[in-house]
This record gives sequence, structure tokens and C-alpha cells, in this order.
Amino acid sequence: MTTNKTIQIFDTTLRDGEQSPGATMNVDEKIVIARQLEKLGVDVIEAGFAASSDGDFDSVARVAEVVSEPIVLSLARTRRPDIERAIKSVEKAKRPGIHIFIATSDVHLERKLMMSRQEVIDAACWAVDFAKQHLDYVEFSAEDASRSDRDYLVQIFGEAIKAGARTLNVPDTTGYAMPDEFGGLFRELIARTPDAERVIWSAHCHNDLGLAVANSLAAVRNGARQIECTINGIGERAGNTSLEEVVMAIKTRHDLFGGVDTRVVTEQIFPSSRLLSQITGIPIPINKPVVGENAFAHEAGIHQDGVLKDKRTYEIMRPEAVGLSSNRLVLGKHSGRHALVERLKELGVDLTDLDMNKTFARFKDLADRKKQIFDEDLLALAAEETKRTPDRYELIYLNVTSSSMAVPHATVKLRVDGEERLDHGTGDGMVDACYKVIAKIVGVQPKLERYHVKAITGGTEAQGEVSCLIRADDHVSVTGNGVHTDIIMASALAYIHALNKLDYWRRHQQRVRVEGP
Ligand code: KIV
Ligand code: ZN
Repeated sequence: MTTNKTIQIFDTTLRDGEQSPGATMNVDEKIVIARQLEKLGVDVIEAGFAASSDGDFDSVARVAEVVSEPIVLSLARTRRPDIERAIKSVEKAKRPGIHIFIATSDVHLERKLMMSRQEVIDAACWAVDFAKQHLDYVEFSAEDASRSDRDYLVQIFGEAIKAGARTLNVPDTTGYAMPDEFGGLFRELIARTPDAERVIWSAHCHNDLGLAVANSLAAVRNGARQIECTINGIGERAGNTSLEEVVMAIKTRHDLFGGVDTRVVTEQIFPSSRLLSQITGIPIPINKPVVGENAFAHEAGIHQDGVLKDKRTYEIMRPEAVGLSSNRLVLGKHSGRHALVERLKELGVDLTDLDMNKTFARFKDLADRKKQIFDEDLLALAAEETKRTPDRYELIYLNVTSSSMAVPHATVKLRVDGEERLDHGTGDGMVDACYKVIAKIVGVQPKLERYHVKAITGGTEAQGEVSCLIRADDHVSVTGNGVHTDIIMASALAYIHALNKLDYWRRHQQRVRVEGP
């Protein structure tokens, strides 16, 4: 039950988050994320925009089937075909919903929608009313609310309540608002909109000026009871409100938020963040609050001294509270399958999607190459295994040679649609040679736009994690991610992962152009 002391967490990682450049996920990957979101304890999952593509429709429908606690909803414009498609996509959900939006700022009305204010109100009311005949849970959003006329917002929100909306969302679509201003907007809307107390007021912020979390918190302090956010803050342009930051801010500064809290199981924050990063190939910045590598690292001597004497001197949150174990060294070469399963369970990994035989074999292989296996290694391994669903290209063999006297040379064998293909070639460096040969075998020449390597744990024998972003001729960009103790292997795996995603995108995800009301 949602009380006035509960902040609903509406996760839009699978919809707004997926709008991040390169963050496309296939249906199976979305299912893995959705299950993790359920475990994390979010209240609402926005699983996609069903009318935008058949791929999105399928994703919403599958997510609706696999989760049971959170409300599952699809985004829709105010058009009848959008709404019908959204309703159909969630028909198997235990708790279905729909999220209808239309823009309300003058610039959007005049330049994008070419509609009058009254026409927009009519479209919104018709859409909410129509959806309400099929579904009880209807959320209405006034896109670009933070740049809309306040009297007009009061009017349209009042009409949306009359039409049956249960939640009213106030988006800062362009990330333009300042915290005081955004908080004031909520205060005014809640005070002036007739029957405001019958609905949940929701904040949806973008991070263009780095204020998405601050604005969401300001909204909460002024009456919002739902925050729309994404894991790792991924999303359109500079991203959305970061779930982990906003949730931990409310928990840590309980004293300032009048006793409100979320239902998030905070110990699942780190596993969720890691899983998403591995599935999308979007790295977590090392200085990212709450989940970044440095979030709990104390470098300065004076800080280390303080923390050793009493952690509270410099730590405002416990690492364990976000799912980072203090007992980091866990398993090794002699650990058995049972120990691995137990540790994975303790780390909150969903075993339903894991082929335990393969996972254990990979664990043993890793233990042969690396003496100490940390939780981070296990989470990386589990995420690698879960994401390896319908792959068209698979690496069988890789040999790369290089020296200060010779041109780097790579020989690669791939399985493509079940058939083995071998080729070789040279390049400017070992990674370049390897990528050129892989591209030759697969028959595509994407542009490598980003390449990033990081060590998962410390030490020279650590596993390296490579993420890359590739862009195809048709401007579709996807990311890939690979983990291995050998950096060249990790690079090859990341590239092949991205190529698989590109192939998947071409076959399933082509979105229709979405424009208009
Ligand atoms: O940013 C935005 O305005 C949105 C709406 C669809 C809610 O994502
Ligand atoms: Zn948005």
C-alpha cells in the first residue's frame, strides 16, 4: 500500500533509459533487467513504448508476464492506436498500467504539435478517459511541464484528474529547472489543482544541468510521492534521475525528508547497477556517487586514518547498505559448485537465467588464471552469462601477435549462424588487428566510436572489462561489453557483443518514427 510516507519508485530504465545512445537491449536482456528491478523493489516498471516498434511491444508484453509485484506499464501518446497497443502489451500483467503523455509548453504546442491549448486538453482527456475504460492505473504526463505556463498546467492536470488519471507526472523534459523553482512548481500545482489530493504527484527529471537528483528531491520536499528514474541515471542525452542516488539521498537524509522512505531493497543497488552496465556496455564512471569504483575509497592519509578509527568520520553510508560486501575476497580455485551457488545467491544474482554448468565452468577457468576471486568478479561473470542469449556471432578462437619489430597480426575463428569461419589480417595495434579481422568475417564495417578498458579489481592478474560503442552506416549505435583476464580477449568479446546487438537491432527493433501528439 502506498502511504503518504512512501515514495513510489517508477523505474524507466527500459524506456527512457534505453533512449541513451547505444543502450539498446534485446528482449531477453530486458527480461533479466526487469527481474532484477523487481528484486530491487521498484514500484513501477515502465517497460517500453509499445507502439514504437514490434520489438518494443514484445518487450513490454514479456516483462508484463515475468514480474508480479511492480505495476508494469507502457508509454503511449494520446492517439487511439498507441493506447490500444499499450493496453494490449500489458494485458498479461498482474498489475497493468499505461502512461499517457502530451506536451504542454507553448514551444511544443506551436512548433511540434501545431495544436491549440484547448486541443491538447481535449486530446489528453479523451486519451485518459479511453484508457480508463480498459485499465485502472493511468498515469498522465505533461511533457515539458517545467517550461509550461503554470495556469495552463493547473487546468490540464485538473481535467486529467476528472478523466480518471491516478498519477500526474511533471517532467523537466529538457533538464532546465532549478531545484527551488521545481520544488515551487510542485507546491503550487498541488495547492491549486482541484482534487490534487486524489492523485500521486510524480517528478520526472533529466540531467542536462546535472540537477536531476536535486530537482527530484526538491519535488519530494514539496509533495511529490513518485520519482521517475533509471539505474545508473542512463537516459536521453545527459540521462535521467539516477535511482541509486535519489534513493540513497532519501535514506541517508531521512531527517530532512519528514520520515518518507522508498521500498527499495538498497542491498540490491550495486548488483543492479553492475548488471545494467554489463548488459548495455555503458561503463559506470569511477566517481559516480553510490556505485562508482571510488564511491567508498578513501585516498587521503587523513581520511584513511579517520576511517580506521571510526568509519563514521568520513562515511555517510555503509558500503554494505548498497550491496558492496566488506568481505570482498570470497572464492578461489578450490571452491566447489555449492559455494559458488551460495555466494551468487548472497549477492542477489537471479539464478533462473543462469546455466549453472556453464557458469561453474567459467568460474573454474577464471580461478585457474586468477588466484583470488572477488564479489565483483562473480557479478561480472554472472552478468556475462545472463546476457549471452541469442548470439549470432560467437568467438571460437583468437590469436594475436605483436612485438616492437613486427606489425600486429590477428587470426580469428568465429561461429556465424552455426558455421565456423576463419580469417586473419593486420592492424595498427593488437586490438585494431583483431577488430578488423572480426569485421571482415562478419561483413560489416561499423565505426568504433568509443573504447574503454577498466580493471574490475586491483592487481595485474585482475579481469579487464572492455566496453565499446560502434556506429553503423545507418547511424544506429550500440554498445558491447566483454570481461576477461586477457585484455585482447575482453576487447574481442566486447566487439562481438556489440555486433550481435547491432544484428539483433536490425532484425527486430527498427522503430517507427514517433512524432506528433
Ligand atoms: O522527459 C519526458 O518528458 C518524458 C515523458 C514521456 C514523460 O520522458
Ligand atoms: Zn524523459
